[in-house]
Amino acid sequence: MNLRELNQIREFALAEAREAPTAEALEAVRIKYLGRNGLLPDVMAQLKEVPAEEKPLFGKAANALKNELTGLIKERQGTLTSVIKKRDAFDPTLPGLWPPLGSEHPISKVTARITEIFQSIGFTVADGPDIETVWNNFDALNTPADHPSRDEQDTFYLNSGDLLRCHTSPVQVRYMGTHQPPIRIIAPGRCYRRDTPDATHSANFHQVEGLFVAEKVSMADLKGTLAYFAKQFLGEDVKIRFRPHFFPFTEPSFEVDFFFEIGGKSRWIEILGAGMVDPEVFKKVDYDPDKVTGFAFGMGIERLAMIMYGIKDIRNLYENDVRFLSQF
Ligand code: DAH
Repeated sequence: MNLRELNQIREFALAEAREAPTAEALEAVRIKYLGRNGLLPDVMAQLKEVPAEEKPLFGKAANALKNELTGLIKERQGTLTSVIKKRDAFDPTLPGLWPPLGSEHPISKVTARITEIFQSIGFTVADGPDIETVWNNFDALNTPADHPSRDEQDTFYLNSGDLLRCHTSPVQVRYMGTHQPPIRIIAPGRCYRRDTPDATHSANFHQVEGLFVAEKVSMADLKGTLAYFAKQFLGEDVKIRFRPHFFPFTEPSFEVDFFFEIGGKSRWIEILGAGMVDPEVFKKVDYDPDKVTGFAFGMGIERLAMIMYGIKDIRNLYENDVRFLSQF
């Protein structure tokens, strides 16, 4: 036995101790080198055979190796057992940790509920783009050239000559242009107006449009449909009333109020615009006004959401403050 051989043992011992993959393997390394019949005690026992000039160095080196190996094994024991402890601490029967979930936006909720109610009585969902032609948004809806809503003060025009739709009514025009009666649709979607944002106005808001066209559709159908909707949406006790109004695309036209309890007392609240489709609109989409009649309606979704949830400021709906949104 000499210093060179001792160095070789040192390299093997340290490598094996460093690489032992489990606590058991590490223990085997410890026994192999440091155990009572291990390699290091054996090396010590051979001290007398080491050449005389190497003896002092050899003794020191052997001792140093023993300490080094003992230290390394101790340290690795600590990490290996802590892995085991962690694994033991995992209890598969405990409920898992859920990542925080978002909640449905009140606008989406109200839209979904309105859609569900109308689908249950045979309406299908139609869609149209946010960027519309002047024809679909105004002309085909019988809106006179000098109607104030056409004003650049009220509607966003694009350089192309198109505009951002100011209501969902152009979906009526699109749908009638591509389908033959009978038709029964609702069309939820975004609308845009040049409004200065305040507690009740937003330049970007949502509406749901409704349209029913067939032979002999009457005011009674309109009333019955809206009364059914009101009861489904707000409960059996709700009442509805029609107030005469004007819209270019319906004749006669109405504003419709619902009477229901809000904040502890019942009162009339304006909910939507509606009417019988104006024959002029039918002519624009090549429907024969002598053959078909229809009703249409449009309601603001923000307004409904604010009423239902007691939201005082429309801007709360767009700020995406989690403290607000997580309440729904
Ligand atoms: N488009 C109207 C608005 O934005 C709402 C409306 C009223 C839609 C009457 C209709 C309707 O379809 O018949 O104020």
